[in-house]
Amino acid sequence: MTQRLDFGPIQTTADLEALARQEALAFNTPYDSCVSWLQATRDHVRVVRAGSDVVGGLVQYDMGLFLGGRSVRNIGIAGVAISPTARGRGAAKSLMAATLKDMHDAGVAVSTLYPTTFTLYGRAGYAVAGHRYQYRLPLAGLGRIQAGGELRRLDRETDADGLARLYRRLAADRPGWLDRNEHIWQRVHNHPAGRDVHGYVLPGDDGAIDGYVVYTLGAVGRYPYDLNVRDVQVAHPGAARRILALFSDCRTLARHAIWYGPLDDPLLLAVPEVGTEISIAETWMLRIVDVRAAFAERGFPAAASARLDLELTDDVLPGNAGRWLIEVDGGNARASRADQDAGPDTLRMDIRALGSLYTGHLSARRLAAMQSVRGSDAALEQADRVFAAEPPSMPDYF
Ligand SMILES: CC(C)(COP(=O)(O)OP(=O)(O)OC[C@H]1O[C@@H](n2cnc3c(N)ncnc32)[C@H](O)[C@@H]1OP(=O)(O)O)[C@@H](O)C(=O)NCCC(=O)NCCS
Repeated sequence: MTQRLDFGPIQTTADLEALARQEALAFNTPYDSCVSWLQATRDHVRVVRAGSDVVGGLVQYDMGLFLGGRSVRNIGIAGVAISPTARGRGAAKSLMAATLKDMHDAGVAVSTLYPTTFTLYGRAGYAVAGHRYQYRLPLAGLGRIQAGGELRRLDRETDADGLARLYRRLAADRPGWLDRNEHIWQRVHNHPAGRDVHGYVLPGDDGAIDGYVVYTLGAVGRYPYDLNVRDVQVAHPGAARRILALFSDCRTLARHAIWYGPLDDPLLLAVPEVGTEISIAETWMLRIVDVRAAFAERGFPAAASARLDLELTDDVLPGNAGRWLIEVDGGNARASRADQDAGPDTLRMDIRALGSLYTGHLSARRLAAMQSVRGSDAALEQADRVFAAEPPSMPDYF
């Protein structure tokens, strides 16, 4: 029997508790912490109902995604969960489609998420658009690192602005990094299982912060342990050395320092010895929600001047489908409806391929080799000049 599904906000405490049960079960997280999380994010939660029963839901984080030096409005999707007894009947797929339609109507440019399955989100129009790189530095062989500068303990309240200023300045230059909202900052400072979170700051000139690190230790009461870094940012190589020196001074009982960063991570570049393990901890997906907003809000290389002729398919958000003219000049782009017939230089692709291209994760040439984009060599080359970027990364998890 096909069940009728409805979508909407949390209306009652019973709705919230029902979804908290699904979240706890899906993600193996204590029920109480799911209740607190949903209370804190209540206005951004969508539930799916079968009849009067809440059978699942998700949370939307309204934030930004830095691309081309600018913050693009990005709704991050977290905690997609459906009751085990209601799975396999299209509830998650319909919930995603309904959520995306609302985002499109609101003019949101893009949406991102960390998937547990590519299939579900691929069907909704998301595509792999970047990685989350993990660095694991063995501390035993590091020796003592000499570095200048005095670290002091981080104060979450009084240092909040200084941290945000440093983070935002560095993140703006990193394709794929989040323009964090309050919830993402909360995740930096609070461990989900309530572990103690430690932090140090390297003060700079004029009250600025030149570097900081926020971390937890491994399982409570056990040593040796790892330094599990929740956030680390450095303004210059001297600050990177100072943070590395802190790690090395913990080496009698700390086995590894583990952090997340870009491929050309500034701490990695400051490590004086071989042996850091680099891995892809997670892969993230992006969906272009509104073509016009996605091009208007992203930054582009200042030297790139181009006219791209696109023909898109989008079976979930038909408002994106069809012909578009993308004019790129002086670091800006504008998408408008194309009025000429498609020609040999028209690039034909699905909205998924545009997602991978948009962040610079896959080049137009690579997508053409994968038969996800069709177009002339000249058009592919032009697209690659426009979207050229360092490999996108996203150190934050949500
Ligand atoms: C993943 C989850 C949300 C799917 O919910 P669901 O309502 O059963 O999914 P749907 O019936 O709407 O399936 C939609 C599509 O996703 C795919 N899909 C669903 N469950 C899947 C699974 N376990 N593995 C791979 N693909 C899956 C199906 O291929 C389906 O597409 P199709 O109908 O075109 O074949 C659900 O299994 C769940 O809550 N899991 C635990 C939590 C979790 O992993 N959440 C995702 C966090 S990113």
